[in-house]
Amino acid sequence: MHSGARSIVLIGMMGAGKSSVGRCLQTRTGLPRFDMDELIVAQSGLSIPEMFAQKGEQWFRNLETSVLTELRLNEPAIVVTGGGVVLRPGNVDTLKRLGTVIWLEADAETLFERASRRGNRPLLQTENPRATISEMLELRRPLYAGAADIRVDTTRRSHDDVTNVILSELEKRQAAGPL
Ligand code: S3P
Repeated sequence: MHSGARSIVLIGMMGAGKSSVGRCLQTRTGLPRFDMDELIVAQSGLSIPEMFAQKGEQWFRNLETSVLTELRLNEPAIVVTGGGVVLRPGNVDTLKRLGTVIWLEADAETLFERASRRGNRPLLQTENPRATISEMLELRRPLYAGAADIRVDTTRRSHDDVTNVILSELEKRQAAGPL
């Protein structure tokens, strides 16, 4: 199937802007949007901080994988993932099957500033969250790179600008014909 005609899957670190850009893409394209963190919260009845505190990270990761595996899309959609989805290779295979995988990139300082605006990320409740973000980025960068069809630097871009870049990249691919 043609990549541009399939779903748009957003990956990247916390603070990359996936949720906001996902909403912009939904408005611009009219496609339905599935935000995995929202689905996980709905399915578990717990907030993400509650899940990490009461059940632990592995429990969250298992639910993340099962929500992704059970995601059935009858039409192209916008799929917004949590930052750690790429930690399991099987998840990456599933995301690739869903559509065009787009990595929203930013440098560690930008990610830290954005992610710490909302103080509810359990993985950042450390003594030095700035260092934690840098370490996570180093570990995950090759995983995002391996999963992504398209990478977009969001560092000095608004959500609207990022959305425009994504849509124009997808159009270019569509114009170039099936890969
Ligand atoms: C996580 C990112 C979060 C959420 C959970 C774990 C991660 O999503 O899934 O706290 O491992 O990076 P966002 O990327 O939307 O913040």
